[in-house]
Amino acid sequence: MSNPSILILPGDGIGPEVMAEVRKVISWYGEKRDLQFDVSEDLVGGAAYDVHGKPLADETMEKAQEVDAVLLGAVGGPKYDDLDFSVKPERGLLRLRKEMDLYSNLRPAQCFDALADFSSLKKDIVAGLDIMIVRELTSGVYFGEPRGIFEEGNERVGINTQRYTESEIERAARSAFELAMRRNKKLCSMEKANVMESGILWREVVTRVAADYPEVELSHMYADNGAMQLVRAPKQFDVILTDNLFGDILSDCAAMLTGSLGMLPSASLGAPMANGRPKALYEPVHGSAPDIAGQGKANPIACILSFAMALRYSFDQGSEADRLETAVEKVLADGHRTGDLLGEEGVSPISTSEMGDVIIAALDDSL
Ligand code: NAD
Ligand code: IPM
Ligand code: MN
Repeated sequence: MSNPSILILPGDGIGPEVMAEVRKVISWYGEKRDLQFDVSEDLVGGAAYDVHGKPLADETMEKAQEVDAVLLGAVGGPKYDDLDFSVKPERGLLRLRKEMDLYSNLRPAQCFDALADFSSLKKDIVAGLDIMIVRELTSGVYFGEPRGIFEEGNERVGINTQRYTESEIERAARSAFELAMRRNKKLCSMEKANVMESGILWREVVTRVAADYPEVELSHMYADNGAMQLVRAPKQFDVILTDNLFGDILSDCAAMLTGSLGMLPSASLGAPMANGRPKALYEPVHGSAPDIAGQGKANPIACILSFAMALRYSFDQGSEADRLETAVEKVLADGHRTGDLLGEEGVSPISTSEMGDVIIAALDDSL
């Protein structure tokens, strides 16, 4: 049998820096665990625009459709801020999500014990936190029509449309219920059914799907209250199911519960392919961090934990994913910190590549 295939798209800003550390981890699995992957690399975002004049070449899109998993760093940056909207770096990422039909975006927020003191919230609010946000990723206001900037009388109007079909809601909901069944069997669905018809439909469909999962305790919450509850008492949640835009915002908010945006991984999953594996793209939740790019300061953990999610969800290597997550936990417990995780007195930051190296050393120790 051929090796599973991975397409690496480092992208822009800190993307290539954090992805270099993931490459070390992938090599380690090849050398030490005999887990070989066929790895190829290509361009996305501004890096692709610089070469092709668009943020994702058609050939890259085709490759992404064929591989077992895509790993993406980050896209975007000030250099590309003034580009026409249709070729902005972010459009490359959105095309990948849409054309691969990656409707279920898993964004786990876990507070490692070693970082509980570091969150901007009080330690007892976040210690032991382990929640999973399931963000619908291929529809909603990100993709709804009509959209655009139009002339209206003597001024312009900017339009985006929140749009959800029942089947789009249903498939995202099913993936969240399936996850809840494997976790603590609690699911909170967030929308704004008080002001949005799409929210009313969302609530109806989720309630209908719940009938197939009688063991899961379902609750509904308005998303604005959800944002407040996430910082007031985040441990009340197990799985949170929400739409594309609310999920974007709520997951950045959840990031600070873990100590840093540099900690949050994600998996974007679609329907199973012929080989039974889901279409999949793995990426950190953070962006290209232009303020620290090129300085060796980025925290590679979000990207490394995204690879752990690939081991779990694409490659059926749950215990190897556990091994990698435990290695990350250990380096944090040992006091290793990139700059974004500083706060304790007397601790000085290590670089992106040093963080990769101590994680590799912890992997070695795990053997
Ligand atoms: P950002 O996530 O890039 O950065 C927000 C803040 O978090 C910055 O201060 C940054 O230094 C810090 N940060 C982020 N990741 C970090 C890491 N790994 N280690 C240490 N610190 C980290 O968000 P932004 O500044 O709003 O956006 C910058 C660019 O990235 C924009 O072009 C945006 O569109 C793009 N973006 C891309 C993605 C993606 O590729 N998935 C996600 C979000 C934003
Ligand atoms: C994210 C990002 C993206 C989003 C952008 C870069 C398209 O913020 O993955 O969270 O808005 O979905
Ligand atoms: Mn975001």
